[in-house]
Amino acid sequence: MRIVILTGAGISAESGLGTFRDKDGLWTRYDLNEVATPEGFARNPQRVTAFYNARRANCAAAQPNAAHHALARLEAALPGQVLVVTQNVDDLHQRAGSHAVLQMHGALMSALCAACGHRWPAPAVMAVDDPCPACGQPRTRPDVVWFGEIPYHMDAIAEAIAQARIFAAIGTSGQVWPAAGFATEARRAGAQCVELNLEPSEVSHAFHTHHHGPATQIVPSWVDTLLSA
Ligand code: APR
Repeated sequence: MRIVILTGAGISAESGLGTFRDKDGLWTRYDLNEVATPEGFARNPQRVTAFYNARRANCAAAQPNAAHHALARLEAALPGQVLVVTQNVDDLHQRAGSHAVLQMHGALMSALCAACGHRWPAPAVMAVDDPCPACGQPRTRPDVVWFGEIPYHMDAIAEAIAQARIFAAIGTSGQVWPAAGFATEARRAGAQCVELNLEPSEVSHAFHTHHHGPATQIVPSWVDTLLSA
């Protein structure tokens, strides 16, 4: 994989989906222990399901922005050479036209059966006692990776990073692991590492170059530069 691009909430901020740790970010309004941990779900599954139903509705009403479209354009120009690894659970990359997308923290638009592991397209409004289409048990949960759970696709991500010539991180604060360690991994593997973010992240030191500003401005110009090289 020639270009591996890690994205975070900042790439979807200008689509109106907000972020987690900026002022009035999601984690300033909700206690993540209550809505983004297995323990929180066990304590109050209705509250957690309602939290993700609201985020799913916001996501469905949102549109991909110029940054999502620029990454889709990059993939189309370099078939098979671009991989988006996103921490986001929204589907804006896919709706912008990106095909090679790994959602390491899961997806709002997917439902998971806590009993048998079956996945299916999430209904707009998920209820805790929705029966699983495969095993019939009423153990439905959001197909989202909560704190304390193992992110998805880690082997494929490690393999892509090991072969990356360019590693970019877009719109992520670098505060959540393992994603926060990807730049150091890529650098060690010899990749050129570039950070595109509104402001320096916690792991800015791991990158060779930095572009700071709104993603809808700095990502399209970065893609133009890549494609004119
Ligand atoms: N353009 C570019 N970057 C932006 C913009 C913007 N318009 N707006 C905000 N940002 C940047 C912020 O400066 C911040 O560094 O996006 C980053 C968002 O950081 P977080 O809110 O921490 O989001 P993220 O890094 O994706 O969080 C990682 O934490 O809660 C978990 O699972 C959740 O996937 C999430 C993970």
